Amino acid sequence: MKESNQWDAEHYNKNADFVSRLAYAVVDLLAPKNGEKILDLGCGDGTLALEIQKHGAQLIGVDLSADMVEKSRNKGVEAYVMGATELVFQDEFDAVFSNAVLHWVQDARLAIENVKQVLKGNGRFVGEFGGYGNIQALREAMQTVFDRHPEYGRFQNPWFFPTKEEYKECLQQSGFSVKSIEIIKRPTPIGDIQEWLDIFANGIMKNVPTSQKTGFKNEVEKILRPKLFTPKDGWVVDYVRLRFEAQKANHEK
Ligand code: BEZ
Repeated sequence: MKESNQWDAEHYNKNADFVSRLAYAVVDLLAPKNGEKILDLGCGDGTLALEIQKHGAQLIGVDLSADMVEKSRNKGVEAYVMGATELVFQDEFDAVFSNAVLHWVQDARLAIENVKQVLKGNGRFVGEFGGYGNIQALREAMQTVFDRHPEYGRFQNPWFFPTKEEYKECLQQSGFSVKSIEIIKRPTPIGDIQEWLDIFANGIMKNVPTSQKTGFKNEVEKILRPKLFTPKDGWVVDYVRLRFEAQKANHEK
């Protein structure tokens, strides 16, 4: 999971708790059972891992961010620093769960192959991440500001937001049978657009000189305000989820 974003766990906790709070439906889809061994791929601060543990599952979390792994461990989750394309486990999990992570992984097929490798036969892969059209207004606003300032370099989109047809094909090519896959529009209230950019777009802004970062964010905010802000609801971002459940074939190695 080669990510191009740096995670500041403290900042994330204060401003991005919605990421886990809005994902309990994905835990329901996973339906963890007592005694199952489950991998949380991209466990973040451990909130959902803990929820899965409460069902009596043996949970292992992995995340690329050492800061996040530390947060998970502090909550009592067994967690390791590891990316989605470098999993070291083999045929040992009943299920792999993943929330709001797979859109950061450019090589989706390699990640799926890694998931297949760590699952037992018949094991399930249940997840949710950004689907086609996700945060489109935000991406377009950043693109516009980059176009206005060639000195910042090109806008490099770090995300993979597939259609359900594209992702279904990726899963099937790795031998998974797809039980369900859907695109869900989920307009998401966030606290503040500039905080969002600091947390989730710091990699995108890395070539913007420090002295001009505030100016960059102000320009993005100005473009987005008429589209995503109302006095009644505050900032509501155009999130789109891709939610799926797939199963590894019994004979697959
Ligand atoms: C998401 O969860 O869809 C997402 C979050 C941050 C950046 C990009 C996508």
